[in-house]
Amino acid sequence: MARSKIALIGSGMIGGTLAHLASLKELGDVVMFDIAEGTPQGKALDISQSGPVEGFDAHLSGANDYAAIEGADVCIVTAGVPRKPGMSRDDLLGINLKVMEQVGAGIAKYAPNAFVICITNPLDAMVWALQKFSGLPKAKVVGMAGVLDSARFRAFLAEEFKVSVEDVTAFVLGGHGDTMVPLTRYSTVAGIPLTDLVKMGWCSKERLEEIVQRTRDGGAEIVGLLKTGSAYYAPAASAIQMAESYLKDKKRVLPCAANLKGEYGLKDMYVGVPCVIGADGIERVIEIDLASDEKAQFEKSVSAVKGLMEACVEIAPKLK
Ligand code: APR
Repeated sequence: MARSKIALIGSGMIGGTLAHLASLKELGDVVMFDIAEGTPQGKALDISQSGPVEGFDAHLSGANDYAAIEGADVCIVTAGVPRKPGMSRDDLLGINLKVMEQVGAGIAKYAPNAFVICITNPLDAMVWALQKFSGLPKAKVVGMAGVLDSARFRAFLAEEFKVSVEDVTAFVLGGHGDTMVPLTRYSTVAGIPLTDLVKMGWCSKERLEEIVQRTRDGGAEIVGLLKTGSAYYAPAASAIQMAESYLKDKKRVLPCAANLKGEYGLKDMYVGVPCVIGADGIERVIEIDLASDEKAQFEKSVSAVKGLMEACVEIAPKLK
């Protein structure tokens, strides 16, 4: 059986890390695309030369022409600009929306059967626009945010409780922004909900709230430290987990920005919800009952995403 083909649209910091991880995990052959001449070619060559040392078999190539992504099974989109200190993800909207239009056209022409994972920010609005610009089936276009937000929450909780990250699960709903909703009663250590751990004296309610807030600000904390761009190792690892679930039909239950068809009372918009990812793409959106305070937080997050969608429509009226 031929290897899968993974196209990376955008070969910057996240794109390079995606190529490296996809190769290390032997998920398939990798095509790196970018408008910057030489960048995808150089990174592809460099990573392919780590193959003999690491012992992976994958063909890597770089290109500045969309024709190179022809027939890709998975496209992971990071094209656009990242944040600088002091910027919110929303500040990127104007520039990155135009990039999504070009990327959507390229994917529609050369890889219409691909599973498309968008990482470009502001995520929930960009993945919505990318699906519209590309015209690909809604179940095959998804946004990566929840896996990353939950990973940040898990890492902070594991550090706080001095337990393995493997035994911490986390559940984050809503948009990828300051209004994201980490759900403490559905986040656990070895199945024990955080709300119970507070009762058991593992940490105070206030300390847990601090960790929740640090999770919400997780991206900004890294932007503030790096100064020249935003996070890339954890975002890339998160998108690779989603790609792997699709390629291997693992049916992982992962929080993703998915197109909603009435779930949570919402239609024709993307927002972070728990999903099953398998060979058909987003195979199922899991709808949970929200407590009234959770519902209020989720609604706040949804209205922030809707605001971004309206800003997109003002720039590109055909998105309406
Ligand atoms: N088409 C293709 N590639 C493009 C385009 C375009 N129209 N415009 C910019 N790019 C490329 C840039 O040349 C660059 O190589 O996208 C790449 C982006 O890489 P970085 O600047 O290193 O950004 P990165 O850290 O990878 O983040 C990319 O993901 O998490 C989000 O907020 C982040 O929106 C940002 C995106």
